[in-house]
Amino acid sequence: MSGWRLCDYEAAARERLAPAHYDYFAGGAGEEITLRANVAAFDRLALVPRVLRGAGRPETGVTLLGCRASMPVLIAPTAFHRLADPQGERATARAAAAAETIMIVSMAATVAVEEVGAAAPGATLWFQLYVQPDLAFTERIVRRAESAGCRALVVTADSPVMGVRRRDIRNRFLDLPAHLHCENLRDGPGGPVRPIAMWPELSWEHLAVLRRMTDLPIVVKGVTHPADARLAIEHGAAAIMVSNHGGRQLDGVPTAIDLLPEIVAEVAGPDGSTVPVLVDGGVRRGTDVVKALALGAAAVAVGRPVLWGLAAGGEPGVAGVLGLLRAEVEQAMTLCGCAGVGDLTPDMVRSVVPPC
Ligand code: FNR
Repeated sequence: MSGWRLCDYEAAARERLAPAHYDYFAGGAGEEITLRANVAAFDRLALVPRVLRGAGRPETGVTLLGCRASMPVLIAPTAFHRLADPQGERATARAAAAAETIMIVSMAATVAVEEVGAAAPGATLWFQLYVQPDLAFTERIVRRAESAGCRALVVTADSPVMGVRRRDIRNRFLDLPAHLHCENLRDGPGGPVRPIAMWPELSWEHLAVLRRMTDLPIVVKGVTHPADARLAIEHGAAAIMVSNHGGRQLDGVPTAIDLLPEIVAEVAGPDGSTVPVLVDGGVRRGTDVVKALALGAAAVAVGRPVLWGLAAGGEPGVAGVLGLLRAEVEQAMTLCGCAGVGDLTPDMVRSVVPPC
């Protein structure tokens, strides 16, 4: 190990990024209460390891919606990777392929999903969608994601309007630089780029429309209320992603890790069956991953840490972040006496007062 922690990648990224771009990646909505809480929540949880179980070296791999990942850490969808590195989403996808984990490509990517797929042939890609009011246009985007080889559709549900991000307003960062575009929003090859529409009329009915539009499994991202987790399943979701969008949408929402146990309990069927519950927001070290898994997550996703790796060092930087998380997860699982992710159980996590 290099001795680096994820926060060291953030410091390196901050030195390289234009201040307005750093703020765009780092910032949250409103007073950034939820943004800060996401990270702090993990410090209020402690791990209670099991000993002398002869577990050996742990197997960190998971299978999600038929996709194998070598570790329970996915790349959350984040916009505008070319602000961080000229190769942008291509570099992120190559690092994901090398680490054998899943990258969720943002609809607001600055490299077209077809090119992301072509740049990293071995990568397992899922596609994140903001459903657009023009459903025919939405369908064209879905078809592009399917043809590019994406294996799941991640529908973001927490963005009927954009959160108020004061840092961006202060910095006047309201649009991409002229040479960058949201390439998945092009209307036909070489055509004009449509602006992303946030859509307050989006409803469960549209999830049913999407369900009929594609055979891809659908993940509903941005679930916080347990009743919505249940509704998502009733409307055909194959997985749920508990998320407050990294504190970038409604400020004052509880942290995903605090909401997780209630949602896991809500989606468990009477026969013990369940859909995978993913979680993101504030994961910054291997022990955070292990805490989330113990509380019932099938896997976690990381947003900003990947952007810090990308800005700090392009593809090798992202590889460094993913490699660090993998090593930390393996170390924490070994110290918890776990042979596999299934050995992590809720009794191994306690709420504590964090040391001051
Ligand atoms: C995001 N996120 C996001 N989510 C989404 O569904 N579509 C998107 O295009 C984006 N874009 C985006 C840009 C940036 C700069 C950030 C930081 C986040 C939210 C993302 O998927 C995820 O929910 C959070 O990033 C998780 O929190 P952490 O890991 O960044 O703390």
